[in-house]
Parts: sequence; structure tokens; C-alpha cells
Amino acid sequence: MTHRRMIAEICSLLLIISLCSCMDLGAEDDLQNAKAFLVKYGYLEDEKDYSKTQLAAAVRNFQWTAHLPVNGDLNDATVLQMHLPRCGMKDVSQTKWLHGGPFYTNHRRKRYTMKSKWYKRHLTYQILNWPWYLSSRQLRHAVKAAFQLWGNVSSLTFSEAAGDSADIRLAFFDGEHNDGARHAFDGPGGALAHAFFPRRGEAHFDNAEHWSLNGKGRNLFVVLAHEIGHTLGLQHSSFKNALMSPYYKKLGKEYVLNFDDILAIQMLYGKFSEPDRLCSYMC
Ligand SMILES: *[C@@H]1O[C@H](CO)[C@@H](O)[C@H](O)[C@H]1NC(C)=O
Repeated sequence: MTHRRMIAEICSLLLIISLCSCMDLGAEDDLQNAKAFLVKYGYLEDEKDYSKTQLAAAVRNFQWTAHLPVNGDLNDATVLQMHLPRCGMKDVSQTKWLHGGPFYTNHRRKRYTMKSKWYKRHLTYQILNWPWYLSSRQLRHAVKAAFQLWGNVSSLTFSEAAGDSADIRLAFFDGEHNDGARHAFDGPGGALAHAFFPRRGEAHFDNAEHWSLNGKGRNLFVVLAHEIGHTLGLQHSSFKNALMSPYYKKLGKEYVLNFDDILAIQMLYGKFSEPDRLCSYMC
């Protein structure tokens, strides 16, 4: 073996070694990112050390929610799913997963808690700010329609408030915005928006997304309607086609609520009825 050839072989060996350790670091990063994701979305309690079994149970619960093959492995499809655009809210309240996800017990999870609702039927809303590139007329129209989607199937009615005492306030924010580090917005993709359950009445949208009301960017109407669902007390749905399912869907104008969305809102506020509706304005 010539001297030069030996050096070449040693070099390629070193290259392979450094590639390998690089890949190991990548896998370790993936694991840390996956844990952070599972904590953020309510599948793990905190970023402490988990046994393989606990981690696998959390991954199975997530796979079940995301309609992936359920095997508890952090495989490519599962990691990829964690990077898809979605709502920044937990998939179910933490205690529900910890004490009862589908892979701990057979109980069907409750979609709402009775305490988390409004005790009036007419709610006002306000749009505090919005991206400069959206026309305020179009935006107000979209917000009105997004509320109407829920109003059409329940006893709730909505109107835009003039002053600053609205029940529900909508606003766009960049990055960290005083909701705690874990709820900081993360730039384009990932978490698109989040909201608070009643009766805090706030929904926040990530300013870093390119929002659109005419189909050329992130469909703001769909995300508005979803976050408004949270402000009314709805949690995430495990039905893939429900508006309240956690992952972002590109949908057309013809979008309607899924039966699961309708059942959930009617459980909290009852069905639409004309006397109720008149009463909310006149009584
Ligand atoms: C609500 O119902 C009315 C009357 O049926 C309908 O015209 C309207 O398109 C519905 N709005 C939404 C947002 O579904």
C-alpha cells in the first residue's frame, strides 16, 4: 500500500467516523425535540427522564390522535407528523392523557369540562390587530363568518364589540408574547395559533405565517374557526375531518362543521332555537 493510499484510507475512515457521530447527535436531537413536542401537546408531563415504556405510551397516544399506525416507535412518519402545521393547544388536557389516554384505559375521553364554558348566550368579540397585508373589510367578514359557523348550530349569538370590553379578543403576535416560553410562536409552520378556554376569551395567531383569505397562503378562515372553537370551550377532536382536529387542513369555501364539532358545541350550549336567538337580543 502506498503512503498516499494509506492517507486516503485513513481520511475516509475518519470521514465515516465523523459522519456516524454526526448522525448519532441527530438522533439525540430528534429524541429531545420529540420529547419537547410530547410535553407541549400534553402527552408527557414534563421534560424529565422517562422510561422507554412511558415514552412509547406517549408516542402511541400521539400516533393514535394523528391517525398514524400505532406502534410506539419514533419512526420517520411520526417525527414528520410532529413537524406539520397545527394548532398550538394541547391535544387533550394533560391530566386526561396521564390518567387515561386510549392506551392506558378504554374510557372514551370527555371533550369538554363543564366549568369551561360561557354562562351567557350572546358573546361579543373584537379584532385587536391584524397583518398589514390583509384588508380589514375582508378580515372582519371572515371573522364574522367563523363565529357564525358555530352560531348556526348552537344557541350562541355573536356580534363585534365597539369598545374594548369584548368577551373574546383576537390578536396576531410574533414569537414570545407573554404566554410563557412554551407557548411562544415558532415562525412559519409548526404551531399556527392558540387560544384560551372560557372565560378568558383570547385567541392568538402567529404573525410569522403568511395568512390568506383567498387561498394563496395559510387559510386564516379555517384557523379562526378552529381557535374560536377553543374560546367557546371545545378541546381537540380525534376525528380526522373535524374542524377541531389539531392539524391544519387546507379547505375550500364550502367548509362545514363535522358532526363531532356540532355535537361538542351543542353539549355545551344546546341547539339553535329561534326563541333563544330573539331572546338574546331582546330579553
Ligand atoms: C349560517 O346559516 C345561514 C342561514 O342558513 C347561511 O346563509 C350561512 O351561510 C351560514 N353561515 C355559515 C358561516 O355557515
